[in-house]
Amino acid sequence: MTEIEDSVVAIDGFSSCGKSTLAKELARELGYRFIDSGAMYRACTLYFLDNNIDIDDIAAVTKALDNIHIEFQNIDGHNATILNGKNITSEIRSLRVANQVSEVATIKVVRQQMVKLQHAMGAQKRIVMDGRDIGSVVFPEAEHKFFITADVDVRVQRRHNELTTKGRNVTMQDVKENLEHRDHIDSTREESPLTQTPSHILIDNSYLTRAEQLMIALKHIKSKNKTLVA
Ligand code: DC
Repeated sequence: MTEIEDSVVAIDGFSSCGKSTLAKELARELGYRFIDSGAMYRACTLYFLDNNIDIDDIAAVTKALDNIHIEFQNIDGHNATILNGKNITSEIRSLRVANQVSEVATIKVVRQQMVKLQHAMGAQKRIVMDGRDIGSVVFPEAEHKFFITADVDVRVQRRHNELTTKGRNVTMQDVKENLEHRDHIDSTREESPLTQTPSHILIDNSYLTRAEQLMIALKHIKSKNKTLVA
């Protein structure tokens, strides 16, 4: 395990560019908790869909948020997303949720509630959190920030492989349209758009292996840690 000062590691970037993979591996290396903030927006989306909440009706959305309880649990060595006591880890990866989640993530009251939860999860530091606004809005003072990107065709191929391996019947075109749609909304929305701040370290992993990407991130963390503790 790599010993560093207790800190927050923020990982932001586009959809399907390997943020969660890096976040999980870094968390394991550092002995930190991994938090997938996208899963929280997906959990809200699933709740709204299953309970027929009209996402344009802010009063209904606000009321529904009181009934949404999200937590993460380690189940059989995997990070499971739990919504109101139910394991929804697999369900929130469906296209049904993916097609709606970016719209849900534009809603101010939803973001406010998720950020509150994220702050509580990071209060003791020692977390690696991935998302779109972690280094810019949620933890602007995070000790370590990475912005991950990859070519769009590489990202489509990766997501398609991931979905078809899980038995989902989707075409490359479906995946590409969904990805481009989400990237567009995530980067242009009014509330906390995806932003690379000057303090984010940029990693383009189009042609990097997972091991190479992890090594690069760890190298940055160790060298920054030296300056933090000096
Ligand atoms: O990382 P992901 O694909 O699971 O994220 C799902 C959606 O949630 C995505 O469209 C962007 C949004 N999101 C966000 O707006 N802010 C975050 N911190 C994390 C995700």
